[in-house]
Amino acid sequence: MLLSLAPMEGITGYAFRRVHAEIFGALDRYYTPFISPLPKVGAPFGKRNSRELDPENNQGLNVVPQLLTNDADRFIWAAGLLADMGYKEVNLNLGCPSGTVVAKEKGSGLLRNPNRLEAFLVDVRERSPLPISVKTRVGIESDDEYDELLALFCRCGIAELIVHPRVQKDFYDGTPRQELYGKTLERAPFPVAYNGDIFTQDDYGALLAAYPQTRHVMLGRGILVNPALAREIRGGEILALTELKLFHDKLYETYTNDMGGNAVFRMKEWWSYAKCAFADPSSVHRAIRKLRRADEYETAARRIFSTEKLADSPRFS
Ligand SMILES: Cc1cc2nc3c(=O)[nH]c(=O)nc-3n(C[C@H](O)[C@H](O)[C@H](O)COP(=O)(O)O)c2cc1C
Repeated sequence: MLLSLAPMEGITGYAFRRVHAEIFGALDRYYTPFISPLPKVGAPFGKRNSRELDPENNQGLNVVPQLLTNDADRFIWAAGLLADMGYKEVNLNLGCPSGTVVAKEKGSGLLRNPNRLEAFLVDVRERSPLPISVKTRVGIESDDEYDELLALFCRCGIAELIVHPRVQKDFYDGTPRQELYGKTLERAPFPVAYNGDIFTQDDYGALLAAYPQTRHVMLGRGILVNPALAREIRGGEILALTELKLFHDKLYETYTNDMGGNAVFRMKEWWSYAKCAFADPSSVHRAIRKLRRADEYETAARRIFSTEKLADSPRFS
């Protein structure tokens, strides 16, 4: 089974990937958070994205860069830069549900216009130096839209389809429509991956029981809450408080070296998920929520790790 880390903007950048792999063992693949805007044709990636993509910062990891765009020329140019850097695949974001992105017909917004999407995919497939995988939602308003979208993907010769079976209007609410993932497995001539609400070994077991042909599961918030989730899924040790502390300390140290005082804000993003690893998430939330200064933050984090207990079965909620 292939287990990968979902792209999560603002959290799973290169520092997170590196520290995760160091403490918990590398996942089979790590997808970068979406890269946007893409450079103009002829220009290099901007400073922030160059750091994210620099092979030095991703050593030893199997990283797939994800692009968010509807501009075929910029996509091809960026794919060329990525090929020169040694990347072997590029991923297209057709899932981002944010209103501003959708309004520009990017991310899941591209699903609204299947003709435009197909023309885009055919064009980039023909010209891209790298195979293109796609991470998609199953529609904008309703899952009735998916039959047409799936037929379109099947015609376009993509390298892999990662299905997050929610529609744009769902954002992250409700239960993933797993039956549409099942339909994809039945029909697609290319490899298929599942993504959505796999938070525990039980969730994973239920997915496998329902869809035994599954070959790739992408884990997102489950890893933010329980960075040992992939190990647990593979039958290994459950998460220990000492390793969560080690993970936290290394992540904070890496962010501090990279961005100084802003490290606290980055860590608070992580805590908004990681608090669910603890038996009393609201107590952790209260301890962290108002902090701004590094010294206050460090004291609060030390207190959490010395007084709070892990939940019996950590899961995102
Ligand atoms: C904070 C956050 C940032 C995200 N950023 C991205 C992104 O950059 N690209 C993308 O394709 N999906 C993004 N997603 C969606 C996740 O990749 C994933 O599809 C979603 O969280 C569902 O999977 P999960 O239930 O395992 O978390 C983001 C989700 C969250 C919560």
